[in-house]
Amino acid sequence: MTTIRVSLGPRSYDIAVDEPGGIGPFAATRLKGRRAYVFADYNVAALGERTLDELGRAGITGRLATIPPGEASKSIAQLAVLYERLAQARTDRQTAVVAVGGGVVGDLAGFAAATYNRGLPLVMVPTTLLAMVDSSVGGKVGINLPAGKNLVGAFHQPAGVWIETATLTSLSDRDYRAGLAEVVKYGMILDADFFAWLESNADAVLARDPAAVARVVARSCELKAGVVAGDEREETGLRAVLNFGHTFAHAFETAAGSDGRHGEAVAAGMACAARLAERRRMIPADVTARLIGLLTKFGLPSAPPAPPRPDEWLDAMRRDKKAVAGRLRFVLPHRIGAVDMIDDIPEDAVRDILTEVGP
Ligand SMILES: NC(=O)c1ccc[n+]([C@@H]2O[C@H](COP(=O)([O-])OP(=O)(O)OC[C@H]3O[C@@H](n4cnc5c(N)ncnc54)[C@H](O)[C@@H]3O)[C@@H](O)[C@H]2O)c1
Ligand SMILES: [Zn+2]
Repeated sequence: MTTIRVSLGPRSYDIAVDEPGGIGPFAATRLKGRRAYVFADYNVAALGERTLDELGRAGITGRLATIPPGEASKSIAQLAVLYERLAQARTDRQTAVVAVGGGVVGDLAGFAAATYNRGLPLVMVPTTLLAMVDSSVGGKVGINLPAGKNLVGAFHQPAGVWIETATLTSLSDRDYRAGLAEVVKYGMILDADFFAWLESNADAVLARDPAAVARVVARSCELKAGVVAGDEREETGLRAVLNFGHTFAHAFETAAGSDGRHGEAVAAGMACAARLAERRRMIPADVTARLIGLLTKFGLPSAPPAPPRPDEWLDAMRRDKKAVAGRLRFVLPHRIGAVDMIDDIPEDAVRDILTEVGP
């Protein structure tokens, strides 16, 4: 259907969304070597097998290993298992790592690719909506430590991203909706027309109408690619717009425990950020209302799980990687489709929002 170019000079690559031909020819034209190690989680093992077959038909041979699904796999222990697999396969520097799955597989296998032999080529084959619109694009890979999420990581751009939106058919409703939170985010931070399109086409998007899903994925990838191209390593501040809703979200995630979904926390976080912006008179009330309306339509929360724990949440925010010297920074909207980075927000204002919001 469409190919999106991520322009990063010598590290430029393509994101193929529903293109014909299969991953075999796509990978073969982008990889120097003819060997690959495919990693997939158990839930998408069949897609992993198919990927291995298609690569084989294009002359790229290799192995498949499956990973236990779930966030717990983004661990040092699981990373060690991947290194061991790569070592057993006598991986050389031209052997590609192919990550088939959601953000967990992409982050974990991607980090193995970034570090094994000081870097192996990586092909991302995202199979969740979140991975298609967010985690497979931009080069961030990593694992968690007991001390916190994503504390060990690298920037390692893939050689290509291969997306087949039809693979989303088997994704759970909850995971699909969670992915939509990041999609709404792109509309809020960068593209008012896309936001309006989501409002008008919410039913088709929710029903996973193939054309609507393809549009959602392609536009989200385009928007993220544009940001990443302007600030590959989060140095100029441009890439920070992607953190809209995320300072709140990370605090809520810490409290939500293992059953929470990142997208659900992001939805609640974006609603809180809009309330904060409204309080600072950056936006009128109807912007918050439109955001919450779309989130609600997508079955997403607009408040963190009860009961409110403002002190605990504030504490988590101060410890956030993005806080500078303990000072809270927020990406806040000044209209739909445009945001600013604000770092002079008094903690009391944040505490008020956190105390007021209920489920
Ligand atoms: N690197 C980045 O830039 C970035 C950005 C955002 C999020 N992340 C990371 O992504 C992770 C979350 O990703 P996720 O939401 O994709 O979670 P996930 O990888 O855990 O996938 C969610 C669930 O869906 C299953 N699944 C995957 N594809 C499926 C399919 N096609 N059909 C049926 N089931 C399928 C998985 O097995 C899993 O149980 C987090 O660890 C987060 O930190 C990374
Ligand atoms: Zn996110």
